[in-house]
Amino acid sequence: MTVILPADPAAIAQAATILRAGGLVAFPTETVYGLGADATSEAAVARIYAAKRRPRFNPLIVHVAELDQAMAFGALEGDARRLAEAFWPGPLTLVLPAAGSRISTLALAGLSSIAVRVPAHPVALALLAAADRPLAAPSANRSGRISPTAAAHVADDLGGRVDLVLDGGACAVGVESTIVACLGTPTLLRPGGVPREAIEAVLGRRLAAAAPAAGAAPLAPGLLASHYAPAARLRLQARAVEPDEAVLDFGGQLQGWATLRPYCDLSPAGDLHAAAARLFAHLHALDRSGAPVIAVASIPSHGLGEAITDRLARAAAPREPAA
Ligand code: TXA
Ligand code: MG
Repeated sequence: MTVILPADPAAIAQAATILRAGGLVAFPTETVYGLGADATSEAAVARIYAAKRRPRFNPLIVHVAELDQAMAFGALEGDARRLAEAFWPGPLTLVLPAAGSRISTLALAGLSSIAVRVPAHPVALALLAAADRPLAAPSANRSGRISPTAAAHVADDLGGRVDLVLDGGACAVGVESTIVACLGTPTLLRPGGVPREAIEAVLGRRLAAAAPAAGAAPLAPGLLASHYAPAARLRLQARAVEPDEAVLDFGGQLQGWATLRPYCDLSPAGDLHAAAARLFAHLHALDRSGAPVIAVASIPSHGLGEAITDRLARAAAPREPAA
């Protein structure tokens, strides 16, 4: 049985006690729910990898309460510092040269860089303050599954493998943080909750693209595998719906099928923020309908659309055999 508690001050205090004792707590952030553990404890971090069945070469994001704290773990200078000042607290993760030695080497997967962010969700910030330590927290789903944007998703996917789930309602952003490597030229490793355009406006230039896996440039190790997979197959850029298909619409393009099939519209008004916030919940719901294929309407690729189309492309990618 998984314990789910509304994220009130008493539950947050209980969660902090669990974390300080080396336990696992799932908690809401503005992007998705995270599976948190004390980032300074090798044993606690090992439990994250076991619960998620995550390969150990895939490093974790370290969450801290404020910018000054991030400086204890990573070199936050120049472009990185400008981005942190502009977007923290918020859905931006910066990959920095690691500094100091307090973070578990398992959390860093042995790399000499560290991914850090200051989340904007009040529950996440209260938990970081109460635990009084950095928290390693990947998305609170089993490796390869859709990220959770509600406490119930966490319980469905990780039930029994986490000591406590703090329920803070639905996540407002709904897609994971944007990851930018600042190890030289700022490089976009993963589109996410902060649109590329906003980051480029602060930098005054374009973000570099992550080189393919064979290149020397950094690539988020977790992005090598196909990811975010529902059980159903996804068919992208659908302009019509086939028999047996469920429908993930955007802006009402496929609304003619709304009463005939399992149907969700990410945003009838065509708003990309609303669409990002609903993306994973709608994928979960359509997947549960049992349809073998989900037809997905075309979605613009600007602003938050870049993160949405990235996640959909991953969900549509050919599956590797379960590891
Ligand atoms: O919004 C988010 O970022 C959520 C919430 C919980 O904060 N977390 C999240 O974590 O999405 P996760 O583990 O699902 O994705 C983290 C990604 C992985 O693809 C990992 O490979 C990459 O960050 N990453 C972590 N450390 C890295 C590093 N030093 N260099 C490059 N990529 C790194
Ligand atoms: Mg994840």
